[in-house]
Amino acid sequence: MKVFISRDIPSIGIDLLSKAGHDVVICPYDRPLTQIELIEYCKESDALLCMFSDKIDKKFLNECKHLKVIAQYAVGYDNIDVDEATRLGIPISNTPDVLSNATADIAFLLMLVVSRKAFHLHKAILRGEWDFFRPKAHLGIELNNKILGVFGLGRIGLEMAKKCKSAYNMDVIYCNRSRNYIAEKLLNARLVSFDELLKESDVISVHCSLNNETKGKFNIEAFKKMKATAIFINTARGQIHNEQDLIEALTDRLILGAGLDVTNPEPMAPDNPLLFMENVAVLPHVGSATVEARDAMAKICAENIIAGLRGEKIPDVVNPEVYLK
Ligand code: DGY
Repeated sequence: MKVFISRDIPSIGIDLLSKAGHDVVICPYDRPLTQIELIEYCKESDALLCMFSDKIDKKFLNECKHLKVIAQYAVGYDNIDVDEATRLGIPISNTPDVLSNATADIAFLLMLVVSRKAFHLHKAILRGEWDFFRPKAHLGIELNNKILGVFGLGRIGLEMAKKCKSAYNMDVIYCNRSRNYIAEKLLNARLVSFDELLKESDVISVHCSLNNETKGKFNIEAFKKMKATAIFINTARGQIHNEQDLIEALTDRLILGAGLDVTNPEPMAPDNPLLFMENVAVLPHVGSATVEARDAMAKICAENIIAGLRGEKIPDVVNPEVYLK
């Protein structure tokens, strides 16, 4: 059968699909396809391996309802209209677990970079501004024994919490729809309300999925409730914070700093004021960008497609209701 892959992925996934006897077609361009192009390619295909930047909405799904499986090359799948896919009987998979460590590393990295103004200082050296020692210049803050507030304590949030606990003995509080017993047992993590999370945390790290409940959750009202010494980290989705409100909060020193691996929109414009603030660090959505994670993601996608094309239940299905019909 024919599998379309919307961006070139590590060969481990392509090889698995080929070995299973499938005819693999990879997007020939080094850019995301327009939706019209994606539909054209998928019309000829039985399965799709897509990226979080592909718009898999009602229109796409109804034009391509013949697809037997869609494998998303990401853990987040807010770009996919899952309800519509379920209605049309299309199973969707994602790539849980394998990128948790890599993404938590990026959250941890951003926390450190912001706490010591590292990107800002690096840029200053490039401008020739490293002159002499000043006892009161370039001061950052230390993280030992501070409070980490995790917003969305799933697999990635847990990895971030473990790193913060073991590196800096940070106390962990979290805000989640349900209790995370592993985190409570392992790290003594404490479930709190959103308001308590805002008020008590020295570092807030966002690890939830993007949905109607979390969209724009970190707005000016939320930033006003945070400590003036707090750091805000988002490695989940850019739409979870309101960017204008974040700029205002940083300019008015309502919070100390921010580390972002995700922005809204992506890519971020090169003249965005956040890029010029000393207590801000921005990365271009690279949470899962390690060889290990990307290889594992390619393998998982291939395995889900192979199972789906065999008519079997796919192992990483995000819409299990599709099998109840
Ligand atoms: C994810 O997996 O959701 C990341 O944001 C993209 O790799």
